[in-house]
Amino acid sequence: MGGLVVAMDGPSGSGKSSVSRGVARALGLRYLDTGAMYRAMTWWMLQQGLDLADPAALAARCGEPAITSGTDPDAPTIHVDGSDVAGPIRSTEVTAAVSAVAAVPEVRARLVAMQREIIGAGDIVVEGRDIGTVVAPDATAKIYLTASAEARAQRRSAELAGTTVEAQQAAMARRDTLDSTRKTDPLSMADGAVELDTTSLTLDEVIDAVLGVVKERG
Ligand code: C5P
Repeated sequence: MGGLVVAMDGPSGSGKSSVSRGVARALGLRYLDTGAMYRAMTWWMLQQGLDLADPAALAARCGEPAITSGTDPDAPTIHVDGSDVAGPIRSTEVTAAVSAVAAVPEVRARLVAMQREIIGAGDIVVEGRDIGTVVAPDATAKIYLTASAEARAQRRSAELAGTTVEAQQAAMARRDTLDSTRKTDPLSMADGAVELDTTSLTLDEVIDAVLGVVKERG
């Protein structure tokens, strides 16, 4: 793994995407959203009519879709078999189903291999749940972003129309529990990671804090 690699992990709504993109822009780095890859896989599986409660079926088919990620922090892209799926992967249906798909070891093995290939050239900020622990344990800087459950739900419901903070908080708690308790590569803070609680910080303050860590470690 050459060049600068910043690993950005944390639960949903902790600010990973905005912070990662801001840091990538400030340092002229690429940006990879690994959550979008798990969402793209989930979208494809739903399109195929697969039973998401049947891990063996998901394991058998997860090698089929071609998933491609564009790494420009100003305009990240995600395609499945050549179709732009940036919109559909954010649907409530995909969001509710993604943790089950991401818990399947064969799905993770395939996506982790793709992620490592993209990260290989270095100079990249990578956001996810297992970047510092599994995907890029030798990353230059590892950040673990957190925020209170209320703040995370508030941010998410501000982004999404037609949802309440309470409904959002319940859905996020469910997803976080699934992501942190699965057997393969659960969400956890990596050794050597710097934890940043973003609850009462502005986006610029968090970006500055991350830039400070990168400068120190880089
Ligand atoms: O980051 P985002 O909320 O889009 O991620 C969607 C889901 O993808 C997470 O809830 C988690 O189940 C899965 N994921 C993962 N490992 C990653 C990134 C995302 O398991 N590195």
